[in-house]
Amino acid sequence: MVLSVVQGREEESSSVVSSVFASRYVQDPPPRYKMPEKSIPKEAAYQIVHDELLLDGIPRLNLATFVTTWMEPECNKLMAEAINKNYVDMDEYPVTTELQNRCVNIIAKLFNAPSADQTKQAVGVGTVGSSEAIMLAGLAFKKKWQNKRKAQKKPFDKPNIVTGANVQVCWEKFARYFEVELKEVKLREGYYVMDPVKAVEMVDENTICVAAILGSTFNGEFEDVKLLNTLLTQKNKRTGWDTPIHVDAASGGFVAPFLYPELEWDFRLPLVKSINVSGHKYGLVYAGVGWAIWRSKEELPDELIFHINYLGGDEPTFTLNFSKGSSQVIAQYYQFLRMGFEVN
Ligand SMILES: Cc1ncc(COP(=O)(O)O)c(C=O)c1O
Repeated sequence: MVLSVVQGREEESSSVVSSVFASRYVQDPPPRYKMPEKSIPKEAAYQIVHDELLLDGIPRLNLATFVTTWMEPECNKLMAEAINKNYVDMDEYPVTTELQNRCVNIIAKLFNAPSADQTKQAVGVGTVGSSEAIMLAGLAFKKKWQNKRKAQKKPFDKPNIVTGANVQVCWEKFARYFEVELKEVKLREGYYVMDPVKAVEMVDENTICVAAILGSTFNGEFEDVKLLNTLLTQKNKRTGWDTPIHVDAASGGFVAPFLYPELEWDFRLPLVKSINVSGHKYGLVYAGVGWAIWRSKEELPDELIFHINYLGGDEPTFTLNFSKGSSQVIAQYYQFLRMGFEVN
């Protein structure tokens, strides 16, 4: 392919993709913000996009992320093979759905969910990442709290959530998007995670849940979920409320069960009703997969589950999005199968 330099186009430099990238098929550089008038050959389109992307960083050299940037070639192959499967089309791709269900059960068992015994199906869903999982878990808490308040004929218009000030931005998004007040426990010099004592002090009758983080985004530190569970149990007993706990285990969820199996932070603690984890962090899958797991079916209000039937049979869905790719879910299953639980 011949690339020719088009010069003297200063005034156009910001309105075209690049004056450098051209071929004999591309007499003029393609416009940057509007669709080109004419089509170009696939080779030319590929080269232009490929070469422009050279200016991105190299993911494998990106040591500032804890999102996966390398997977085995066999898994890359599986992902490429599934690239054209729409995950939501469960009737058409029932095996992909089955793999997601296996992942949900594997993770629920890893987190000691009582619903994940041999006889019952665990309750959970694959998401785009922890952020979507947190929105779903937060919505379930809000709905449950509202239903209870309505039944008690009490006001249900001022829900709040208690977190540490170290929460990831997705909690602030949840609060703003879904109109829940975020009550943040302030951090202090030398203590950079949520103090369970202070968190429980901030809980009131409008608190839909306390969110603890297993693996603070800023320093990786685990919050003391066990102490939170103890203090909140005492407060619930005193007040008659039943404020639950959500654990944001975006990064710690695939670390703690392997490195600290004795640490009680998960469904072993009775007030922990839901947990999220990012598959694309220590679940070792490329960006685009997370998981929301609930302790049991009772924690998930029915009205949040939609049943669609226009793709075939009855398909229950509880996600913010509808269509999405299947590759990440398949890759997650590959990693579980490939790694096993073995702790070396
Ligand atoms: C504690 C915590 N929660 C939530 C998120 C959001 O995760 P995701 O990028 O999977 O949406 C992150 C991401 O860094 C995180 O560290």
